[in-house]
Parts: sequence; C-alpha cells; structure tokens
Amino acid sequence: MDSHQTTYGIIGYPVKHSLSPLMHNTAFAELGVDATYKLFPLKEEDLKNFFENLRKESNFIFGLNVTVPYKEKVIPYLDSLAPLAQRVGAVNTIVRTKDRKLVGYNTDAPGFLAHLAELKFNLKDKRITILGAGGSARALIAALCLIPERPQSIRIYNRTSSKIGDLLKDIASRVDTSIVEPVMSVDDLNIELADLLINTTSLGLKEGDPCLIDEHLLHSNILVYDLIYNPRETPLLKMAKATGAQTANGLGMLYYQGILSLQHWAGIQVQEEVKNKMRAVLEEVTND
Ligand code: ATR
Repeated sequence: MDSHQTTYGIIGYPVKHSLSPLMHNTAFAELGVDATYKLFPLKEEDLKNFFENLRKESNFIFGLNVTVPYKEKVIPYLDSLAPLAQRVGAVNTIVRTKDRKLVGYNTDAPGFLAHLAELKFNLKDKRITILGAGGSARALIAALCLIPERPQSIRIYNRTSSKIGDLLKDIASRVDTSIVEPVMSVDDLNIELADLLINTTSLGLKEGDPCLIDEHLLHSNILVYDLIYNPRETPLLKMAKATGAQTANGLGMLYYQGILSLQHWAGIQVQEEVKNKMRAVLEEVTND
C-alpha cells in the first residue's frame, strides 16, 4: 500500500456494503486526481485512536464520510461543525483542513432535499409521514423542519415509541419542530391524506421482511420514498407502484450527499460530466 497516496474513505460498522468507494473512486478517475477512497470498518473502541492518528502529519487521509453508528459519536472528536451539522446534530462528512483541523458537515439533509427537488416534489404545505426514528430519520426531520418551504405537518411512527420522544427532544433543542407530531400507530399517520411517505426503517432490506403499511392506505396522490436502495424496489415500493403512487428509492439521496461531500473535500464545484459518471456507476451496480 502506498501510504503517501491522498486518501479519503468512510468510517462505520459495518461498512462493507457501502457504495461510496465506487462512487468516489469513479469521480477521482474522472477528475484525474491521484487519490483513493477506502472503507474503514471501525469498532467503537478504535474511534479515539483513529481520530488521534488523523491529526498526524504522516496521515494522508484528507476527508471522510461517516455512517452508522457514528454520525453523532464522531462530534466530540472534531474541532468545529458547519452550521447545518450543528443544527442536525449529526455529521456524515469530515474535512481535514491544511492545518489539520477537523470540520464536520452534514450532507445527508441537503442530499435528501436535492433528490426531492429533482423529483419536482415541492414540500411547501405538504403532509409528510415518516416510518422510523433511527439515525437516518434524524437528518431528514431536521432538514424538513429547516426549509423555508415549510411543510404543513410531519407525522412519525416508530416501533419503539420512546425513541421518537428522545430524538425529537434532541432535535427540538436546535430546530423548530412545532410541525412534528409523533404517533403511536401506523393508522394514526393518516397516510390516506398524506402527500409523502418516507421509510427510514431497515424493513425491506432483507428478503421476506414484512411491510409496515397496508396497501389500502396508499393512493395515487402520494410520493413513497424508501431510503433503501438495495434492493432497488422494496415490497413497500412495489406495493406503492401498484396503487399508482409515485415512488423513489434512496439512490438519489446517496448520490447527492456524495456530490456535496466531494465538493467539501475538493473545495470546488464538481462538473456535470463527473456527476453523471458517479450517478451512472451507482445505477449500474444496483441494477440487478
Ligand atoms: P438507521 O441509522 O439506518 O436509521 P437505526 O438507527 O438502527 O438505523 O434505525 C433503524 C430503524 O428501523 C429504527 O426506527 C427501528 O425501529 P426501533 O427503534 O423500534 O428499533 C426500525 N426497525 C428495524 N427493524 C424493524 C422492525 N422489524 N419493525 C419495525 N421497525 C424496525
């Protein structure tokens, strides 16, 4: 291994299924940059050591992505947070500056909003429903509460209802969450009246996973957005399609958050041709 090669990567556990190396190494090749993007599977007890090493002159890692379960846990190791990461309370991108300061960004939230914009979904006055209250829900809820085109309502259901309370309490300390309403059952989400349903749970990742939603609740005036992109079409999305609903998986969000991360690391706008290549490899590899 050439330890002097400019390196980027993703920390998390597990990370082996991440598509970020494919996306970013494609970008480096297109840009003609001599850099590599690697997987860094890290146990929690190794985090401290990893971040200590990151500050050393001999370390050639200049930027990182952060995934489960460390998006909040990395914050104490950083020197500063960009305003959005501060408000979301989670970091998925780290920039190591020239003077070895570590700055945390959140590109999940704007990545999700960028994908909705691509889908021409205007959030203003919309009724939004969310399944799940884990790490992925956090960035989405904060993003939806922060945008000027304020949605009418955000209803959230989670299997473990106490987790919604904890999550909202935390987000509400930094963001106006007055439009958010936790509910105790899927029926109380009022999906029949909703404009957007977002699945942030891991249900649908594995074959044979049950679906939290009954088909009769879905309709043709709703966008059903599943954060899962592998499989490309979860049972929820299949069912939604059958009812005439608009559907989207999380590949677009993955792509947009990746572009934004790359722009933070490089300090430049990424050209359209490079972006198109990044998108194409993601589409290709998930197209089974
Ligand atoms: P992520 O960071 O991807 O959101 P996570 O923080 O582990 O991952 O959250 C997983 C989400 O999927 C949670 O909302 C979890 O519900 P609980 O809080 O009740 O655990 C949800 N989830 C996972 N398996 C589920 C299942 N079998 N039924 C319902 N919800 C499930």
